[in-house]
Amino acid sequence: MAGEAALMDRIYRRQRHVYDFTRKYYLLGRDELIERLDPPAAGRVLEIGCGTARNLIAAARRWPQARLYGIDISAEMLVTARQVVGRTDVARRITLAHADASTFDPAWLFGVPCFSRIFFSYGLSMIPGWQDALIEAISWLSPAGELHVVDFGGQEGLPAWFRAGLRHWLARFHVSPRDHLQDELEMLAGRAGTLIRFERPYGGYAQYAQFRR
Ligand SMILES: C[S@@+](CC[C@H](N)C(=O)[O-])C[C@H]1O[C@@H](n2cnc3c(N)ncnc32)[C@H](O)[C@@H]1O
Repeated sequence: MAGEAALMDRIYRRQRHVYDFTRKYYLLGRDELIERLDPPAAGRVLEIGCGTARNLIAAARRWPQARLYGIDISAEMLVTARQVVGRTDVARRITLAHADASTFDPAWLFGVPCFSRIFFSYGLSMIPGWQDALIEAISWLSPAGELHVVDFGGQEGLPAWFRAGLRHWLARFHVSPRDHLQDELEMLAGRAGTLIRFERPYGGYAQYAQFRR
């Protein structure tokens, strides 16, 4: 965790101050994911790689019966997340913790056994061991619980010059689109659930998955 945490802290130490303003123009599909979460009454929802907690706050407002939890490997991002959450009217329903996506224990972090919804929003593309993070997330879903993922896609429907430029630019920020996300989730579905939705919206700019345990 130490190396990855230090890298994320270096990236976000200054970025976190302008993060929400700048990312709204290119982290597409986040609000659709929040809309589709549809957690059961009093359900627990976890975001892995929650960043500034922008999504957790929106999800808390959209789903007023839910309890929200967020983990992030960057202590810097969590400083901003805690400040922002603390200023909202939904603060008492959001709990944050410092943890690594590939190994965490909700009982130890939050005193809860599992979640009815878990999501990654533009997080998997920054996690080198993203396949392990998927396995870890699925293991903490309640029966019939759902994992939702939105992230950069393969940009198949977009011009080659745009695709090449975007990939080059993302690589500078240690972001790698996970071109085999669908294959990986189909493989995991054979073991532990069903891939109920896989989409490539915005000409493949993004990819969206919904997996049910
Ligand atoms: C691009 S930001 C996305 C933030 C937020 N999910 C959003 O949609 O605005 C990626 C986040 O993932 C976090 N992250 C990267 N690797 C992680 C890991 N191994 N475990 C937990 N969080 C991680 C980063 O610190 C960062 O806050």
